[in-house]
Amino acid sequence: PTSEDALNAMKADGVKRAVAFTQYPQFSCATTGSSLNELWRAARRVGLADAFEWSVIDRWPTHPTFIEAMTETVREGLAQFETQAERDDALIVFSAHSLPMSVVNRGDAYPAEVGASTHEVMTRLGYKNQYLVAYQSEVGPVPWLGPSTEDVIEELGAKKRKNVLIVPIAFTSDHIETLHELDIEYGELAHEVGIDNYKRAPALNGSELFLDALAEIVHEHLQSGEPCSLQYGLRCPGCVNPQCRNILNPVAPFERTNVSKSPKNRQYSAT
Ligand code: FES
Repeated sequence: PTSEDALNAMKADGVKRAVAFTQYPQFSCATTGSSLNELWRAARRVGLADAFEWSVIDRWPTHPTFIEAMTETVREGLAQFETQAERDDALIVFSAHSLPMSVVNRGDAYPAEVGASTHEVMTRLGYKNQYLVAYQSEVGPVPWLGPSTEDVIEELGAKKRKNVLIVPIAFTSDHIETLHELDIEYGELAHEVGIDNYKRAPALNGSELFLDALAEIVHEHLQSGEPCSLQYGLRCPGCVNPQCRNILNPVAPFERTNVSKSPKNRQYSAT
């Protein structure tokens, strides 16, 4: 449903208290931030700005049960290699959706949070495989955060790596970027550049551990009584959008930092 439809249905159901729970584990103003901005705009559009008390679950990149569920997918991915020697040799490529560098340079948290998730997963795996982080799905002529997953696969082929496991660290369910981009497009590329064993760790999808993680995250959030994470109130240093990091009709007061007035940062305006 659209935000408007969901909000109207909530009103019709008599809902008074709502939690905006991002399904992006790692925070970015280009994903969670802009989705929340749009949610508040939608509530105003349908005349429901005051209808609900809101709180926000804005990020969960290192939640222990989420990390355990993600680690389990990596173990399943490694199990796809036929021999122990191949498993030991497998290079793990954690692939996340890329961001325009204009977003990264205004101070977006995403690269650090993707790194935090990766570190936690590798810690549970005992750092027994080599690994790296790469970014996929860049489009258009603007500079994007790299290295691109595509370039990395080509480079690994050139370096004669034979065993590669791709892990979609920032996606929680299968969709076009896992099923088509990672499996089909990059699978063909890996074959062309001579990577014999190119495997992809399964997405979390309906993993029971992942569902437990979602339930725990909501439970812990409600128990805390907080309107959001402490970090949510801190705007990007280069932010010039006064709407960022708002909570409509918050369940408890919270503080936001001021918008930057620095002219050199004006190019980083968010939606
Ligand atoms: Fe990040 Fe506004 S662009 S807080």
